[in-house]
Amino acid sequence: MKKLSFFVAAAVVAFVACNSGETKSWDDIAVDNARIQIGLQIDTVESLGLPFHNPTSIQPDGSVLYCDVTDWRSGFFPGTLWYLYELTGDSTLLPYARKYTEAVADAQYLKWHHDVGFMIGSSFGNGYRLTGDSAYACAVVEAAKSLSTRFRPNAGIIQSWDVDPGSEREAKGWACPVIIDNMMNLELMFEATHLTGDSSFYNLAVSHADRTLKEHFRPDGSCFHVIDYDSISGDVRHRHTAQGCAHSSAWSRGQAWAIYGYTVAYRETSNDAYLQRATGTFDFVKNHPNMPADKVPYWDFDAPGIPDEPRDASAAAVIASALYELSGYVDEVKSREYVDYADAIMQSLSSAEYTAPVGENGRFILKHSVTSLPAGVEIDVPLNYADYYYLEALKRKRDLEKTSSRNL
Ligand code: GLY
Repeated sequence: MKKLSFFVAAAVVAFVACNSGETKSWDDIAVDNARIQIGLQIDTVESLGLPFHNPTSIQPDGSVLYCDVTDWRSGFFPGTLWYLYELTGDSTLLPYARKYTEAVADAQYLKWHHDVGFMIGSSFGNGYRLTGDSAYACAVVEAAKSLSTRFRPNAGIIQSWDVDPGSEREAKGWACPVIIDNMMNLELMFEATHLTGDSSFYNLAVSHADRTLKEHFRPDGSCFHVIDYDSISGDVRHRHTAQGCAHSSAWSRGQAWAIYGYTVAYRETSNDAYLQRATGTFDFVKNHPNMPADKVPYWDFDAPGIPDEPRDASAAAVIASALYELSGYVDEVKSREYVDYADAIMQSLSSAEYTAPVGENGRFILKHSVTSLPAGVEIDVPLNYADYYYLEALKRKRDLEKTSSRNL
């Protein structure tokens, strides 16, 4: 029998729901919409066949950008399929989640940049969490070994980027750059210790989180994007930016990575300093006069042309997902505040302003994200990691609701 396309199958589900007289909540509608849109994205990827075309963004000519396995974003499409499978319980998604996870397997051996945590955590990490497949656990451990090779003991950090002779990074004067984004790679290291009992992964992660806590943050709670170290003396050489509008500015996704990264670090260590960091940086974001009413930040809180600057839906999705988790680590009043704030972000992202009509937007869910405005790369476009963290946030919201209904 010919398989129904995802669009047709999902449209049938939507038709039945609409005609059953049931009133759907905004988040249920968001999940239904995601199921249809990502179903269409799967149809496209399947029709292109092998080699795997990994959907990432939209290019200036309107065509979809597909990344290769070494790109830091290579795990997010398979990760999106895992979350969609979890959110919908639709087992027809499972073979695709597995297929496209296995298609990025080579990323576990990558040692020339730090992003294996993003790449393998979102794909194999979620696959292991949802299936218990031991082969997926092996990939997580292998990736943590790869990431460990980038640890620089005298500085106590995991180096983010290499600085090749003649490169733009060398021209900037960097020697051993660490970006705040790297906090997101630590979850992989904690997981590798859980899986193996080998505490060396945990220890490297804690060392990195401690040094980052000391060097990356400003008194107002915001963070620098890039700290450049001397890997021999361990000293800081520069406090810079790469994707923000100025070295001294608060690049929005960087603030989001900090909130999320220290929430994970607190979960894994119970170190109160990490919790204070996550909540403190969230307070900076929340209280910033340039945070728009819909709580989807401009790409940089200090962007000179606000309010005529692009928004960054990816930063908003990361903050929402982090806040749903963070709400579990604070008192009742703060917990309510964090959930309400995350809900407000998610309702904005789920509105027509940010959620694309089905079949449009390169078949990505969300519009209006920015990769790097200073570099002129991917400005006001969909990004696969905006979709990934949006679905993760929807899943975390559902988990919270299940827990609170059990406690009634
Ligand atoms: N890690 C790259 C970014 O957040 O754009």
